[in-house]
Amino acid sequence: MTAISGKVSTDSASGGIRLGGKVLHPLWLRERVTEAHALDSISHQRLYQTAELDPDLMVENVLISENRKQLSLQFSDGYQAELNLAEIAIELGLAQNPESIPLPKSWQSSLEFKRFSWNDLDDPNEMKALLTAYFENAFCIMDGTPTDQDSLKQHARRFGFLRATNFGELFNVETKPAATDLAYTDAALASHTDNPYRWPVPSIQYLHCIANGVEGGLSTLVDGMAVANTIAEENQDWADILESTPVRFRYDGPTGIYEDTAPLIARDYRGYVNHIRFSPRLDFVPALDPETLTIFYAARRRMHELANDLAFQIQFPFKPGTLLMMNNYRLFHGRTAFNGKQGYRHLQGCYIDHDGPQCLYRMLAIGNTDTHVRRET
Ligand SMILES: [Fe+2]
Repeated sequence: MTAISGKVSTDSASGGIRLGGKVLHPLWLRERVTEAHALDSISHQRLYQTAELDPDLMVENVLISENRKQLSLQFSDGYQAELNLAEIAIELGLAQNPESIPLPKSWQSSLEFKRFSWNDLDDPNEMKALLTAYFENAFCIMDGTPTDQDSLKQHARRFGFLRATNFGELFNVETKPAATDLAYTDAALASHTDNPYRWPVPSIQYLHCIANGVEGGLSTLVDGMAVANTIAEENQDWADILESTPVRFRYDGPTGIYEDTAPLIARDYRGYVNHIRFSPRLDFVPALDPETLTIFYAARRRMHELANDLAFQIQFPFKPGTLLMMNNYRLFHGRTAFNGKQGYRHLQGCYIDHDGPQCLYRMLAIGNTDTHVRRET
């Protein structure tokens, strides 16, 4: 049985069918054919051009099998197709899709979250739990990782493929003279997102603690979705201007110039906040009329206040072996100050794309037990 109940019939107006309370277009149905001659057996890519299908195609006859697992379709060009009703039900939103990525959940400082043990992540259920926490909260923390220099590359590759930048595949966050970024000093870092001047902006950031001999230097995280939604509740004009004003972000470094222009807050097609860009040392708003800019500056000031408000923030220390994985498109991150003369503090960082953890989650969701993203050879 499937989640689609009731009768099926052809629909003369559209040339398609009526099923599950919906009218389905004949071309939509035809593009879901999965028979061997239509799809490559390995990649499952179509072996034909959808643009070459008859634009006036119609379904002339339709039947549901007795066990309600198959849909038999006779098309006007003579093609006979068998579609899997369970797959159609998922596409119509009438059945749960096990591959669906968990939805984001807005959080504030009261968030209770689990820290995961690196050694437990060979268990597919534990890895799935970690990924679920990551998708909901936009971060997760692992303890007990090996702390060899550069071992972060191996840790991050478990979840995806490294995104190199002009700072290299890895960057070192340690106090050093003539620092090219405030991150490399012992100063506090206000809430920000990384590298909004890049195109594309690095997606997921890892921070891996190799050594920490100082007090303070706590890592801070704030949910950009909570901040954006709070601003929208407080003042819709502020939300609108932050979501529509194109701001230029620019990094003018010793070996290159990186620049991109985008609003501070973006949402996806569902309305979820899906990209926060916030780096007040690197942003340049256009010379809009003073009235508009006054609203923009008030909105950006409020964004800064909320992003640094303790009511929205969680703080945690880095111990050797701690590995933080965070969504740089959703979270603000920062750091409390510390005294660099007190001891040596060394974190390494790197980036991967969003699709790696999503791929790993889907593979686990369909029953795969490998807890690593794999390259195709
Ligand atoms: Fe940063």
